[in-house]
Amino acid sequence: MRLFVAVAVPSQAADELDGAVAPVRPSWPGLRWTGRDAWHLTLAFLGEVNETVSTRLAPRLERAAARHPRLSVSLGGAGAFPGAARARVLWTGVQDEPRGLAALAASVAAGARRAGAPPAEEGRRFQPHLTLARCREPVDVRPLVDSLSGYAGTPWTAAEIYLIRSHLPGGRAHDRPRYETLGSWPLRVSAVPGT
Ligand code: 2AM
Repeated sequence: MRLFVAVAVPSQAADELDGAVAPVRPSWPGLRWTGRDAWHLTLAFLGEVNETVSTRLAPRLERAAARHPRLSVSLGGAGAFPGAARARVLWTGVQDEPRGLAALAASVAAGARRAGAPPAEEGRRFQPHLTLARCREPVDVRPLVDSLSGYAGTPWTAAEIYLIRSHLPGGRAHDRPRYETLGSWPLRVSAVPGT
Protein backbone atom coordinates (compact mmCIF):
# COMPACT_ATOMS: atom_id res chain seq x y z
CA MET A 1 0.00 0.00 0.00
CA ARG A 2 1.08 3.55 -0.76
CA LEU A 3 1.48 5.51 2.48
CA PHE A 4 2.42 8.95 3.67
CA VAL A 5 2.40 10.84 6.96
CA ALA A 6 0.79 14.27 7.13
CA VAL A 7 -0.64 17.09 9.18
CA ALA A 8 -4.31 17.79 8.48
CA VAL A 9 -5.62 21.11 7.22
CA PRO A 10 -8.76 22.10 9.14
CA SER A 11 -11.84 23.05 7.16
CA GLN A 12 -11.67 26.73 8.09
CA ALA A 13 -8.12 26.99 6.71
CA ALA A 14 -9.17 25.05 3.61
CA ASP A 15 -12.21 27.30 3.10
CA GLU A 16 -10.04 30.40 3.30
CA LEU A 17 -7.48 29.02 0.88
CA ASP A 18 -10.18 27.81 -1.48
CA GLY A 19 -11.60 31.33 -1.47
CA ALA A 20 -8.25 32.67 -2.65
CA VAL A 21 -7.61 29.95 -5.24
CA ALA A 22 -11.10 29.56 -6.74
CA PRO A 23 -11.00 32.84 -8.72
CA VAL A 24 -7.74 31.93 -10.50
CA ARG A 25 -8.51 28.29 -11.35
CA PRO A 26 -10.61 28.99 -14.48
CA SER A 27 -7.75 30.93 -16.09
CA TRP A 28 -5.43 27.92 -15.80
CA PRO A 29 -7.38 24.93 -17.14
CA GLY A 30 -4.18 23.15 -18.14
CA LEU A 31 -3.22 22.58 -14.52
CA ARG A 32 -4.55 19.61 -12.56
CA TRP A 33 -5.89 21.32 -9.46
CA THR A 34 -5.94 19.37 -6.21
CA GLY A 35 -9.30 18.98 -4.50
CA ARG A 36 -9.95 21.03 -1.40
CA ASP A 37 -10.95 17.87 0.51
CA ALA A 38 -7.57 16.28 -0.19
CA TRP A 39 -5.48 19.15 1.13
CA HIS A 40 -2.87 18.18 3.72
CA LEU A 41 0.73 18.94 4.65
CA THR A 42 2.99 15.99 3.90
CA LEU A 43 5.63 15.26 6.54
CA ALA A 44 7.00 12.13 4.88
CA PHE A 45 6.08 10.16 1.76
CA LEU A 46 6.76 6.48 2.46
CA GLY A 47 5.80 5.01 -0.90
CA GLU A 48 4.82 1.35 -1.26
CA VAL A 49 4.80 -0.43 2.10
CA ASN A 50 3.74 -3.99 2.85
CA GLU A 51 1.28 -5.09 5.56
CA THR A 52 3.99 -6.19 8.01
CA VAL A 53 5.83 -2.91 7.82
CA SER A 54 2.62 -0.89 8.03
CA THR A 55 1.76 -2.49 11.39
CA ARG A 56 5.23 -1.63 12.68
CA LEU A 57 4.68 2.01 11.82
CA ALA A 58 2.05 2.76 14.48
CA PRO A 59 4.28 2.61 17.60
CA ARG A 60 7.07 4.44 15.79
CA LEU A 61 4.80 7.25 14.69
CA GLU A 62 3.23 7.44 18.13
CA ARG A 63 6.66 7.90 19.67
CA ALA A 64 7.74 10.45 17.05
CA ALA A 65 4.61 12.56 17.56
CA ALA A 66 4.88 12.49 21.34
CA ARG A 67 8.36 14.03 21.16
CA HIS A 68 7.11 17.23 19.54
CA PRO A 69 4.86 19.97 20.89
CA ARG A 70 1.72 21.17 19.18
CA LEU A 71 2.45 23.85 16.64
CA SER A 72 0.78 26.93 15.33
CA VAL A 73 0.61 26.53 11.57
CA SER A 74 -0.60 28.82 8.81
CA LEU A 75 -0.70 28.77 5.03
CA GLY A 76 0.56 31.63 2.94
CA GLY A 77 2.42 32.79 -0.11
CA ALA A 78 2.93 30.73 -3.23
CA GLY A 79 5.69 29.05 -5.15
CA ALA A 80 6.43 26.22 -7.52
CA PHE A 81 8.67 23.18 -7.84
CA PRO A 82 11.19 23.09 -9.39
CA GLY A 83 10.62 26.77 -10.20
CA ALA A 84 7.80 29.10 -11.29
CA ALA A 85 9.09 29.42 -14.87
CA ARG A 86 8.90 25.64 -15.47
CA ALA A 87 6.58 24.39 -12.78
CA ARG A 88 5.47 20.82 -12.20
CA VAL A 89 3.91 21.61 -8.82
CA LEU A 90 2.22 24.83 -7.68
CA TRP A 91 2.05 25.24 -3.92
CA THR A 92 1.17 27.53 -1.08
CA GLY A 93 3.69 27.77 1.70
CA VAL A 94 3.50 26.81 5.37
CA GLN A 95 4.61 28.91 8.32
CA ASP A 96 5.04 27.23 11.70
CA GLU A 97 5.46 28.93 15.05
CA PRO A 98 7.67 27.97 16.76
CA ARG A 99 9.60 26.44 13.85
CA GLY A 100 8.98 22.77 14.50
CA LEU A 101 7.55 21.08 11.42
CA ALA A 102 10.97 20.22 10.01
CA ALA A 103 12.01 18.59 13.29
CA LEU A 104 8.71 16.72 13.42
CA ALA A 105 9.19 15.55 9.82
CA ALA A 106 12.71 14.37 10.67
CA SER A 107 11.42 12.33 13.63
CA VAL A 108 8.65 10.85 11.51
CA ALA A 109 11.19 9.93 8.84
CA ALA A 110 13.49 8.33 11.41
CA GLY A 111 10.60 6.37 12.93
CA ALA A 112 9.43 5.21 9.52
CA ARG A 113 12.95 4.13 8.61
CA ARG A 114 13.18 2.06 11.81
CA ALA A 115 9.84 0.47 10.97
CA GLY A 116 11.25 -0.56 7.60
CA ALA A 117 9.69 2.20 5.49
CA PRO A 118 12.41 4.74 4.75
CA PRO A 119 10.88 7.85 3.17
CA ALA A 120 11.73 8.29 -0.47
CA GLU A 121 13.15 11.73 0.11
CA GLU A 122 14.74 11.36 3.53
CA GLY A 123 17.80 13.55 3.73
CA ARG A 124 16.53 16.15 1.29
CA ARG A 125 15.75 19.53 2.77
CA PHE A 126 12.19 19.43 4.05
CA GLN A 127 10.16 22.20 2.47
CA PRO A 128 6.65 22.22 3.94
CA HIS A 129 4.01 23.09 1.36
CA LEU A 130 0.48 22.35 0.29
CA THR A 131 0.19 21.28 -3.35
CA LEU A 132 -2.44 23.33 -5.17
CA ALA A 133 -1.92 21.99 -8.67
CA ARG A 134 0.28 19.69 -10.70
CA CYS A 135 1.22 19.74 -14.35
CA ARG A 136 2.41 16.91 -16.56
CA GLU A 137 4.61 19.22 -18.60
CA PRO A 138 6.52 22.16 -17.16
CA VAL A 139 4.37 25.33 -17.22
CA ASP A 140 5.33 28.95 -16.66
CA VAL A 141 3.17 29.83 -13.65
CA ARG A 142 4.90 33.10 -12.72
CA PRO A 143 1.72 35.20 -13.09
CA LEU A 144 -0.16 32.69 -10.95
CA VAL A 145 2.51 32.68 -8.25
CA ASP A 146 2.42 36.49 -8.31
CA SER A 147 -1.32 36.61 -7.89
CA LEU A 148 -1.30 34.12 -4.97
CA SER A 149 1.83 35.41 -3.26
CA GLY A 150 -0.04 37.82 -1.00
CA TYR A 151 -2.22 35.08 0.47
CA ALA A 152 -1.96 34.70 4.26
CA GLY A 153 -4.29 32.31 6.04
CA THR A 154 -5.39 32.25 9.67
CA PRO A 155 -3.13 30.09 11.90
CA TRP A 156 -4.41 26.92 13.52
CA THR A 157 -2.98 24.50 16.07
CA ALA A 158 -1.65 21.27 14.60
CA ALA A 159 -2.35 18.71 17.31
CA GLU A 160 -1.70 15.36 15.65
CA ILE A 161 -0.10 13.54 12.76
CA TYR A 162 -1.89 11.16 10.40
CA LEU A 163 -0.86 8.03 8.57
CA ILE A 164 -2.66 8.10 5.24
CA ARG A 165 -3.09 5.54 2.50
CA SER A 166 -3.27 6.86 -1.02
CA HIS A 167 -5.44 4.87 -3.43
CA LEU A 168 -4.57 5.69 -7.02
CA PRO A 169 -7.50 5.22 -9.38
CA GLY A 170 -6.40 2.70 -11.98
CA GLY A 171 -3.01 2.68 -10.28
CA ARG A 172 -2.00 5.84 -12.12
CA ALA A 173 -0.12 8.44 -10.11
CA HIS A 174 -1.38 11.26 -12.32
CA ASP A 175 -5.06 10.79 -11.50
CA ARG A 176 -6.60 12.24 -8.37
CA PRO A 177 -5.92 9.82 -5.52
CA ARG A 178 -8.39 8.91 -2.80
CA TYR A 179 -6.98 9.24 0.71
CA GLU A 180 -7.82 6.90 3.60
CA THR A 181 -6.70 7.70 7.15
CA LEU A 182 -5.17 4.64 8.82
CA GLY A 183 -4.23 6.20 12.16
CA SER A 184 -3.49 9.40 14.03
CA TRP A 185 -1.22 10.18 16.97
CA PRO A 186 -1.16 13.29 19.17
CA LEU A 187 1.62 15.81 19.43
CA ARG A 188 2.69 16.72 22.95
CA VAL A 189 0.37 19.21 24.64
CA SER A 190 3.03 20.95 26.67
CA ALA A 191 5.82 22.93 25.05
CA VAL A 192 8.14 21.92 27.88
CA PRO A 193 9.73 18.47 27.46
CA GLY A 194 8.90 16.02 30.19
CA THR A 195 5.92 17.96 31.56
P1 2AM B 1 3.21 16.83 -2.97
O1 2AM B 1 2.05 17.44 -2.32
O2 2AM B 1 4.41 17.68 -2.96
O3 2AM B 1 2.91 16.30 -4.35
C1 2AM B 1 0.71 11.91 -1.25
O4 2AM B 1 1.11 11.58 -2.53
C2 2AM B 1 1.57 13.02 -0.73
O5 2AM B 1 2.92 12.59 -0.64
C3 2AM B 1 1.54 14.27 -1.60
O6 2AM B 1 1.19 15.36 -0.81
C4 2AM B 1 2.93 14.38 -2.16
O7 2AM B 1 3.54 15.59 -2.06
C5 2AM B 1 3.76 13.55 -1.24
N1 2AM B 1 4.90 12.99 -1.96
C6 2AM B 1 6.20 13.25 -1.70
N2 2AM B 1 6.98 12.56 -2.52
C7 2AM B 1 6.20 11.87 -3.35
C8 2AM B 1 6.43 10.99 -4.42
N3 2AM B 1 7.66 10.65 -4.83
N4 2AM B 1 5.36 10.47 -5.06
C9 2AM B 1 4.11 10.80 -4.67
N5 2AM B 1 3.83 11.61 -3.66
C10 2AM B 1 4.86 12.15 -2.99
